[in-house]
Amino acid sequence: MAYETPNFAALLPALATDLVVEERPIPVPGPGEVLVRNHVIALNPIDWKRQSWGFLVPSYPAILGTDHAGTITAVGAGVTTLAAGDRILGFPDGFLTGIASHSAFQTYTVVSASLATKLPTSLSFSSAATLPTAAAYATLALFGFLGLPLPTTALPTPPTGRGILVWGASSSVGALTVQAAAKLAGLTVIATASPAHHAKLRGLGAAAVVDYHSADVVGEIVAAAAAAGVEIAYAVDAISEAATLKPTVEVLGKFPGEGLRLVHSLPWPADLAKPEGWSVAQVQGEQAFGERKELAQWLFSQNLGKWLEEGAIVPGAHRVVEGGLGGIQSGLNELKAGKVSSEKLVVEV
Ligand SMILES: NC(=O)c1ccc[n+]([C@@H]2O[C@H](COP(=O)([O-])OP(=O)(O)OC[C@H]3O[C@@H](n4cnc5c(N)ncnc54)[C@H](OP(=O)(O)O)[C@@H]3O)[C@@H](O)[C@H]2O)c1
Repeated sequence: MAYETPNFAALLPALATDLVVEERPIPVPGPGEVLVRNHVIALNPIDWKRQSWGFLVPSYPAILGTDHAGTITAVGAGVTTLAAGDRILGFPDGFLTGIASHSAFQTYTVVSASLATKLPTSLSFSSAATLPTAAAYATLALFGFLGLPLPTTALPTPPTGRGILVWGASSSVGALTVQAAAKLAGLTVIATASPAHHAKLRGLGAAAVVDYHSADVVGEIVAAAAAAGVEIAYAVDAISEAATLKPTVEVLGKFPGEGLRLVHSLPWPADLAKPEGWSVAQVQGEQAFGERKELAQWLFSQNLGKWLEEGAIVPGAHRVVEGGLGGIQSGLNELKAGKVSSEKLVVEV
């Protein structure tokens, strides 16, 4: 088969080294998989963390990257739901398996057909590429670990009268969690973010947004819940540092309840006591390819496309980093420096 371009990859040669662009063989999709000619790749904080710390990198050279959007160029045996020429976003499992061809930072990526979403015609590749990790995280947090009922009815889901705190709501994970909680789970969302993002987050479905820099952030969250007429039953901390988990735990402590209530995105900080009496869980992207695979498949192959069509889920802002695959390193450096606020960095390939 003739391909329009060779496959180039942004390779990680060794732990904590800079990415280098090299030509690689064009991969072949196996049974149940599709080969995607990537047009846009999105960068996540987890990418620089894996690059710097070797997290889930079994061998070198490695290819990182979890979020991509492009056009299917070939389908493997048994794929009936997708075809060559389809525009899709994908969540490839190289994050867990370490298989280089199943990662995003290259021209062609192999992804399971069950972890790909056909795009509405109005959705650009750039907006689509911002979604996979954030949508997977929000879905696992709400419908996996917090055990909320899967949305089945016409959207939006009717209000349940229960509240959820989403800390770090302007992050890509946070903004997807706000939308899914408000529109798909029927929860009243109290969010935290810098003031510049408050109006946007209310537009995405948050009932109230509190500035996390405030000296009395816990009191303001509790007051916002009272004003909205709800008790906060759950919390998702999309940032999950000691400085964010501590006030999140304090807020939940004001609303006695049982069961699994708090989901965090990074390992529990060693210098912070874990709350007792109600349980906490960490959502990790790799669970989407292992213990929570069925839920991820439910998201990508059956629901995300529908939610995008209906406008229940709206992609966040993005900024193109120049240089294509060669620009990924500077984008990761920006993320590592903590300079990115409420926008996803993407590269065009
Ligand atoms: N384990 C996994 O598999 C996995 C998967 C995905 C993400 N994560 C982790 O989850 C975190 C979020 O990822 P992301 O991609 O969503 O991040 P992101 O979009 O890059 O997050 C940037 C935002 O974080 C907000 N923020 C920073 N410090 C904050 C604080 N103390 N309180 C509230 N908000 C704060 C800033 O909000 P303002 O502009 O409003 O100040 C900024 O807009 C990262 O640490 C990432 O590594 C882990």
